[in-house]
Amino acid sequence: MALVRDSLLGLSTSWFFCVLVAVLAVQPHRAYGLSRGFFGPKRTAVAPPVAGICASSVTVHGYKCQELEVTTQDGYILSLQRIPEGRVRDGEVKRQPVLIQHGVLVDGMTWLLNPPEQNLPMILADNGFDVWIANTRGTRFSRRHTSLDSNQPDFWNWSWDELVSFDLPAVFDFVYGQTGQKIDYVGHSQGTLVALASFSEGNLVKQLKSAALLSPIAYLSHMDTKLGVVAAKFFVGEIVKLFGLAEFNPKEKPVGNLLKSLCAHRGVDCYDLLRALTGKNCCLNSSTIDLFLMNEPQSTSVKNMVHLAQTVRNGVVAKYNYGRADYNLNQYGEATPPIYNLSNIPHDLPIFISYGGQDALSDMQDVMLLLDKFKTHDVDKLSVQFIKDYAHADFIMGLNAKDLVYNQVVAFFKRHH
Ligand SMILES: *[C@@H]1O[C@H](CO)[C@@H](O)[C@H](O)[C@H]1NC(C)=O
Ligand SMILES: *[C@@H]1O[C@H](CO)[C@@H](O)[C@H](O)[C@H]1NC(C)=O
Ligand SMILES: *[C@@H]1O[C@H](CO)[C@@H](O)[C@H](O)[C@H]1NC(C)=O
Repeated sequence: MALVRDSLLGLSTSWFFCVLVAVLAVQPHRAYGLSRGFFGPKRTAVAPPVAGICASSVTVHGYKCQELEVTTQDGYILSLQRIPEGRVRDGEVKRQPVLIQHGVLVDGMTWLLNPPEQNLPMILADNGFDVWIANTRGTRFSRRHTSLDSNQPDFWNWSWDELVSFDLPAVFDFVYGQTGQKIDYVGHSQGTLVALASFSEGNLVKQLKSAALLSPIAYLSHMDTKLGVVAAKFFVGEIVKLFGLAEFNPKEKPVGNLLKSLCAHRGVDCYDLLRALTGKNCCLNSSTIDLFLMNEPQSTSVKNMVHLAQTVRNGVVAKYNYGRADYNLNQYGEATPPIYNLSNIPHDLPIFISYGGQDALSDMQDVMLLLDKFKTHDVDKLSVQFIKDYAHADFIMGLNAKDLVYNQVVAFFKRHH
């Protein structure tokens, strides 16, 4: 357990390498979780909580919380939580809505693992925001569909392109419809990628007020650690043949076997590299890591992992590459997948970017490539924050994230209201 826990300190919660940790950790953490009995003696650590996110993580702290459902145009039924106000009622009637979008292989609960004084949704609620927490398709509370079952391959026929075309628009329409107000957005990791891609296509921007992008990933080609390279190669090259259209469930055996084979590659030392890959998170509470282990990781689709790996390898932000000119032609009318041109993001959109000096996934060189796309952005609409000691997970679970990041996000949003 010590080994697993140690390596977890260096864990990213929102990128595909956390799969590696997850698989290493599944057995020990099951036992550990049981002994701790966080969710009560009857439940194992890896079983999803029976109650939704509101009941398990929000109302227990004295906040109001609503469980809601949004159906995407392609039929996925997504769960959404709303924390309409803070603990102290201030009589304010019209609150500013803010939508919070997690990264890959985790779900909305990942924002709620720290105590109320330290987690982003509750800090926003206590600052007068009307808080909405999204849960991406395929994660435990977003696994229903109007006509497909999650054990059918077709249920998993999507990549982050579909999050851009369907998930985000559905949730934005819903929140906008309910509140009648333009939305502030906070994304982490994949939650930044899908937002940037959407904005570049001119989507969502009419319903959006400002966006805060934490640990932004768009360009990933500098994530050049050995295991990263091996994994990305594998995902692009072989995984489709191996898994087909399927669920990518880090808690199940096929993914475990995959991990073992990746770790057996020459020069890949999974224990050491976990830290090196995801960055050395400075500021995680070990109790929060325990909670994380009980609640994450969550599934995504194999196709999404492949698409993310393509981004690592090709260094461009583009749609899913079917790997064959005729397939791409059929799908896009072009032999190569169309790019998301980030230069087309409206220059007057207020954007806050926060990135860390220890973040191996959102590597500084890649962030520089991203920032280059904002060269011509209105200067008073762009705010960039660099936190030297922060790695990927510190942005969602860091003990001091309130002081370092969240207060800045709140101030940025308020400045642009
Ligand atoms: C997967 O979805 C794409 C469109 O997004 C479609 O062209 C393709 O036929 C689907 N594949 C399967 C096996 O259903
Ligand atoms: C870590 O989390 C536990 C459980 O929420 C809490 O009791 C403890 O005070 C936290 N430690 C710090 C340094 O915030
Ligand atoms: C992206 O958009 C910018 C500005 O609209 C344009 O100048 C540039 O040529 C585009 N790049 C690509 C690769 O299409």
